[in-house]
Amino acid sequence: MKGLVLSGGSGTRLRPLTFTGAKQLIPVANKPIIFYGIEALVNAGVKEIGIVVGATAEEVNTVVGDGSRWGVSVTYIHQEAPLGLAHAIKISRDFLQDESFIMYLGDNILKNGIRDFVTQFQHDQPNALILLTEVTNPQDFGVAVIDESGAVKKLIEKPKEPPSNLALVGVYLFDQAIFTAIDHITPSWRNELEITDAIQWLLDNDCRVLSHRVKGWWKDTGKPDDIIEANLLVLEGINPCEKGTCIDTEVTGRIHTGKGSSIEKSIIRGPVIIGENTKIINSYIGPFSSIGDDAVIENSEIECSVIMQGARISNVQKRIDRSIVGKNVVIRVNDRSPRTHKFIIGDQSYLEIIR
Ligand code: G1P
Repeated sequence: MKGLVLSGGSGTRLRPLTFTGAKQLIPVANKPIIFYGIEALVNAGVKEIGIVVGATAEEVNTVVGDGSRWGVSVTYIHQEAPLGLAHAIKISRDFLQDESFIMYLGDNILKNGIRDFVTQFQHDQPNALILLTEVTNPQDFGVAVIDESGAVKKLIEKPKEPPSNLALVGVYLFDQAIFTAIDHITPSWRNELEITDAIQWLLDNDCRVLSHRVKGWWKDTGKPDDIIEANLLVLEGINPCEKGTCIDTEVTGRIHTGKGSSIEKSIIRGPVIIGENTKIINSYIGPFSSIGDDAVIENSEIECSVIMQGARISNVQKRIDRSIVGKNVVIRVNDRSPRTHKFIIGDQSYLEIIR
């Protein structure tokens, strides 16, 4: 089967991070989110992957490359505007041809990968296989209604009054019937060709749509808190690996440090990942923190946060908690009078000082 990874969209709910980069490239446990999807496809045996890209095409291309690092081929498919998931499939027809395929939304992470779903699809050969999971906020997703036997009856995109708490996970398996379905639907109120409408068309036209309940966690990283949560969930499963050096440092729990990183006179409580060539001096790095490459953390405390490449944090002794700090950001506390705040912060940044 071929794989189709969606990496367009403007990521408005993740501003300001998405002003300077694609949301699918935001790091979770120091790895771009889109890599989790690509690796899930590769682990399920996919050899040819199409990536649908939009305004951030160039960056995605630079980071992902031609797929050779995973031993697969990657083809880029350009979507002129974010016109919906079904639209992304429609414009990928030349790449997909008439084969069955897996569509994976590039901002989704699934703990257990997708092998079981691919096996079920190949065995049962339905027209579509959708993945479902229970959520507490179904109004934020596509929602499914299923009967007692588990058969899918109805799908609704982001309903104001959700008929169930079963959300559609962003991984779908289709055969070529989906192209006919997409030709029969019209854009929704948000001017998108919705994949839920296309699958609903399959249901209304006696096609076989099966569902599979996802075991293990799933995260759609659409909002800042989702990134922090996804980072926590991924770090829960990391294996220790220490390539950096620790001097005079107390380490507990699992930590992963990259080449050339050095940690001095600090306390590290895992699970924590620290990138390459990063310096941590006289600081506390608490559980569920990811610190990117080339960062410097000095006399500061950090917990449950995502600190990206090149960030420099110094003298912030009040703990930085559940935060996302972008590339090359500088945060420092100076002990001098008058005691003021000085901010140079980009549009739509979020800053909260808790006293
Ligand atoms: C999309 C789908 C929605 C699905 C979700 C999963 O939503 O339209 O049905 O539940 O992905 O991540 P969007 O990310 O476009 O809001």
